[in-house]
Amino acid sequence: MTDGTALLAIEGLAVRYGAIDAVRGASLEVRKGEIVTLLGANGAGKSSILNAAMGLVPVAAGRVVLEGEDVAGRAPERIVRRGMTLCPEGRRVFANLTVAENLTLGAAARRAAGGAEAARADMFRLFPILAERGGQMAGTLSGGEQQMLAIARAMMSSPRIVLLDEPSLGLAPRIVDTIFELVVRLRDRGATVLLVEQNVDLALEIADRGYVLATGAIALSGPAADLRASGNVERAYLGAH
Ligand SMILES: Nc1ncnc2c1ncn2[C@@H]1O[C@H](COP(=O)(O)OP(=O)(O)O)[C@@H](O)[C@H]1O
Ligand SMILES: [Mg+2]
Repeated sequence: MTDGTALLAIEGLAVRYGAIDAVRGASLEVRKGEIVTLLGANGAGKSSILNAAMGLVPVAAGRVVLEGEDVAGRAPERIVRRGMTLCPEGRRVFANLTVAENLTLGAAARRAAGGAEAARADMFRLFPILAERGGQMAGTLSGGEQQMLAIARAMMSSPRIVLLDEPSLGLAPRIVDTIFELVVRLRDRGATVLLVEQNVDLALEIADRGYVLATGAIALSGPAADLRASGNVERAYLGAH
């Protein structure tokens, strides 16, 4: 399933907002074909890591190595074109555009020119509910449907790796299960996934490996099965407080 080389390696990453040290030398890697989960309490620095990796907030120190190339500090569009995309926390679909239009926007930064139509058809196959709702304003969708749309939009750029920031946030348990099944399907059809979550149990169920972030530093990491069995995750988590 994995070939052992890191598709994404974040090395000694630091993120600062003025006097706030949000991320303090965090390192993690994601290999091709893996689902890796980055866990941590609210405020631990998870979103800061993803946003810095994507060039959305400044990298104060460290490297973001994407397929062997350090992309730290590059513009987000360039990073998307290099094959990494983010599905941000809080979904952020364009409420006043249709589902189909939202998807088309996601294709703007496709690595390969053209193919947007085919990509959209592919996403409609993967997310049949979005096909049904294609002409509807995104703002009228349920929370779960908006999350699916946000993921599908991110996938429109045909990324080599997708960063998912808390896709389960605020969704009912049944919907969360659906979203997590979709993440597994994305992986099974060739995607590589870095999944940020506070839902420890579910994330470790679908992930190959996991990292636990506590106040901006990695406190614990390992195969997901080991992390689940150890019972240390909660302790590392609590270290954040
Ligand atoms: N734009 C910002 N300006 C100032 N502080 C921020 C900003 N974004 C996040 N922070 C702070 O950085 C820390 C990490 O936040 P964040 O990365 O959002 O954590 P998480 O995603 O794990 O909840 C928190 O203390 C948060 O308040
Ligand atoms: Mg966050």
